[in-house]
Amino acid sequence: MAHEALTVAVLGPGGVGGLLAALLARAGHRVICLAGDTTARALRTTGLHVRSARYGDFTTPVEADTELREPVDACLITVKHTALDAALPRVPAPALGDALLVPFLNGVEHPAHLRSRYRPDRVAPAVIRVESTRVAPGEIEHASPFAEIDLTGDPVPRHRLDATAAALAAAGLTTRILDDETAALWAKLSFLAPLALLTTHYAAPLGDIRTRHRDELTALVTETAAVSRACGGPAGPAETLARFDAFPPGTRSSMQRDAEAGRPLELEAIGGALLRAAERHGVPTPVAARLVRELRRAGP
Ligand SMILES: NC(=O)c1ccc[n+]([C@@H]2O[C@H](COP(=O)([O-])OP(=O)(O)OC[C@H]3O[C@@H](n4cnc5c(N)ncnc54)[C@H](OP(=O)(O)O)[C@@H]3O)[C@@H](O)[C@H]2O)c1
Repeated sequence: MAHEALTVAVLGPGGVGGLLAALLARAGHRVICLAGDTTARALRTTGLHVRSARYGDFTTPVEADTELREPVDACLITVKHTALDAALPRVPAPALGDALLVPFLNGVEHPAHLRSRYRPDRVAPAVIRVESTRVAPGEIEHASPFAEIDLTGDPVPRHRLDATAAALAAAGLTTRILDDETAALWAKLSFLAPLALLTTHYAAPLGDIRTRHRDELTALVTETAAVSRACGGPAGPAETLARFDAFPPGTRSSMQRDAEAGRPLELEAIGGALLRAAERHGVPTPVAARLVRELRRAGP
C-alpha cells in the first residue's frame, strides 16, 4: 500500500457503511465498525461480505464494537437520518478527539447538527453516489456500476481531507474533494428531493414519473433549484431535468424502497429540509409542500 494505513471507525455498517468499511479493510486500513450488539457480534464472527460487479465478491474481517473507545484517524457516519440521534452516543466527543468526522447522509442539515456536538473544523460532509444495500448484518450488495464520493468540509484543514480522500480513492472509490460544501450538498439534494418525493408519493419508478407526471416533476425541479440558489447552491433546473431523462426508467429511490418495506422515511432530512430552507429564504414551493404534507400524513 503506497499511502499511510489509517484507523477508521464506521458508525452504521449498512449499505453505504458496510461497503466503505469492507473496501477500506481490504485495502489494509484498520476498520472498527460501530453498531448495535447483534450486528457487532455478527461482524466480529463473520466479517463483512460484499457482492459487487465492480469490486468482486469478497469477505474481509473487521473489528466491531458498540462504542468508540480509542483514537481513530476518521469516523464515517453512515446511519440513516432517522437513526442519527440514537446512534451518536456511540461516538463520544472525547473519544473522537482530533479525528475527522465524515457523514455520508443525504440532506443538508446534519453538518450543523454534528458541528454543534463535535469539533466543527473536523466535520467533513461527504456526498456519495452509489446503490448499495445491507441485506443482512454484514452482507452488502453493491448494485451500481459506480461508487463516487465528493468530500467537502469548508473549515477542515486541507491536509486532513487529502489523507481521507487518498485512502478512499486507493480503496477503489472514485473520490474528489470539492471546495464548496453548500454547493456539494445542494447539488445532490436538488436531484434527490424531486426523485425521492415523487417516486415515493406515486409508488412508481422514475420512468413513470417523467412521462405520466412530467409537469409536476418540472415544477418540483424548478422549485428545488430556486431554493438551492437561495442557499448558495447550484441552480440549473434544465440540467437536473436532463439528468432525470438520462437515468434508466426502472430507477427507484431509497425513500421509495423504505416506504415499500414499511421502514421510517428520511422525509424530514430531504423534503422537510427543503421546505425549511425555502421558508427561511422566502422561496415559494407549493408542489414540494403538498408532497411533503401528504407523505407525512401517510406515515410511517
Ligand atoms: N444505500 C445507498 O445506496 C445510499 C446511496 C446514497 C446515499 N445514501 C445515504 O446514506 C445514508 C445511510 O443509508 P444506508 O442505505 O446505508 O442505510 P442502511 O443500509 O439502513 O444502514 C444503516 C446502518 O445503520 C445501523 N444503525 C441503525 N441504528 C443504529 C444505531 N443506533 N447504532 C448503530 N448503528 C445503527 C444499521 O444497523 P443494523 O445493520 O444493525 O440494522 C445499519 O447497518 C442515508 O442517509 C442514505 O440516504 C445511501
